[in-house]
Amino acid sequence: MRRLFPVTDQTPAPPQDRADREWSLDELAEAYAYPVLGTDGHWLRANMVSTLDGAAQHDGRSQPISGETDMRIFGTLRALADVVVVGAETVRQEGYRPARAREAFAARRAAAGQGPAPAIAVVTARMDLDFSLPLFTSPLVPTLVVTGATAPADRVAEALKAGAEVVVAGDGAAVDPARAVRELAERGLRRQLTEGGPRLLGQFVAADALDELCLTISPMLAAGDAQRIAGGPSVTVPHRLAPASVLEEAGFLFTSYRRI
Ligand SMILES: NC(=O)c1ccc[n+]([C@@H]2O[C@H](COP(=O)([O-])OP(=O)(O)OC[C@H]3O[C@@H](n4cnc5c(N)ncnc54)[C@H](OP(=O)(O)O)[C@@H]3O)[C@@H](O)[C@H]2O)c1
Repeated sequence: MRRLFPVTDQTPAPPQDRADREWSLDELAEAYAYPVLGTDGHWLRANMVSTLDGAAQHDGRSQPISGETDMRIFGTLRALADVVVVGAETVRQEGYRPARAREAFAARRAAAGQGPAPAIAVVTARMDLDFSLPLFTSPLVPTLVVTGATAPADRVAEALKAGAEVVVAGDGAAVDPARAVRELAERGLRRQLTEGGPRLLGQFVAADALDELCLTISPMLAAGDAQRIAGGPSVTVPHRLAPASVLEEAGFLFTSYRRI
């Protein structure tokens, strides 16, 4: 893998800039480190993959448009996060499981004051989730269910019974995305990562709650009517971000853009 941006004038090029070498997980973790946060700061980053023609899934899943290095970066981003925030439809379609503790990141997490694995936070209004799944019954750290104040009481009871923590972040059925970010941060979950899906990410964008987008551009064309990485109503004025890094491996571009 090699770095395409920012470019360096160093001669010889640092090892990370040589195309023919796989980066270690430590190097990836350095490349994707969260910014240093102030005492009550938080940072919401999204990690998404898209084909060249903008498809965010194929046959209802992101796996066919992903690749080996994309999955290593996916795992690294998880390992750096306090919490992974995900929409209920992605949980249903992709069969989400609890995040694992990974030996390769254990020392880094301990030094950062983090538990062995990030919590998963599922955003849902209807709470139409299977609370008997390992995601809810046997995670290393309790899974959070982020919902509105009028969520169905019987489903809330099911979630609690399964061991999940229910976080109310909206006055009605819907979750207010900016409030969800704040509620999680107040629980100490300040290094946040959202893995979408597109309907949830679109709301974070519309609420101007997103600080960083880690976008993998997959060297594939999919055509069809797949979703883009962010959906929902468009914003009044497009939000401009600044490139932070671009890496390349096997034709995949791994980009990161940050809030200006
Ligand atoms: N390319 C990528 O990187 C990527 C990443 C993730 C997912 N995907 C793909 O995207 C598809 C799923 O994404 P999606 O956009 O359809 O769905 P999604 O964003 O994962 O989930 C939508 C669901 O989340 C809940 N939700 C979203 N916003 C909410 C709010 N403000 N308040 C309360 N609940 C809210 C609702 O759940 P309830 O219905 O339970 O109320 C809603 O039905 C899958 O095909 C998946 O493979 C691709």
